[in-house]
Amino acid sequence: MKKLLLIPALALTVFLFLQATSKEAIETTIIAVEFDNEIPAHVKAVIDQKCYGCHNAESKNEKGKKKLDWDDFESSRRAKQLATMAKINETLIEGEMPPAKFLESKPEGKLSPEELQTLLDWSAGKKRAPKQ
Ligand code: HEC
Repeated sequence: MKKLLLIPALALTVFLFLQATSKEAIETTIIAVEFDNEIPAHVKAVIDQKCYGCHNAESKNEKGKKKLDWDDFESSRRAKQLATMAKINETLIEGEMPPAKFLESKPEGKLSPEELQTLLDWSAGKKRAPKQ
């Protein structure tokens, strides 16, 4: 009788052990995501060149500043960052940024296909830098 009980007891121990480890793994992942607030350097380089001019705390472009302020981004809470990233992703997919009117007079402000991909990947939450 005792021996028979050993099997479910063992199974339960293994089960609890597995649960504990996976829970720990999940918690570690959540922490990693929460503290990953900085924009990676290769993404920042594109933003500085193509987006920052209109979207910063000192911008004279009031509409642009109101919609997106990069100076505010890194100190924002993760939930706000994720919402902003989703908005950026949507805006880029629709080809709305930089604004077409602005590009008429400054065509060099347009995103290259590589730059666009970099911003798309980042704003979609992909972590790794694209292969060069
Ligand atoms: C020439 C100035 C200028 C540049 C450069 C520019 N933006 Fe904008 N952006 C604006 C303005 C103006 C608005 C507000 C548009 C509106 O409300 O109609 C805006 C709005 C946005 C919004 C909010 C859209 C919405 O519907 O809420 C996002 C996101 C955005 N820009 C991202 C970017 C990104 C990413 C880049 C770089 C690739 C960029 N912008 C470059 C001027 C600019």
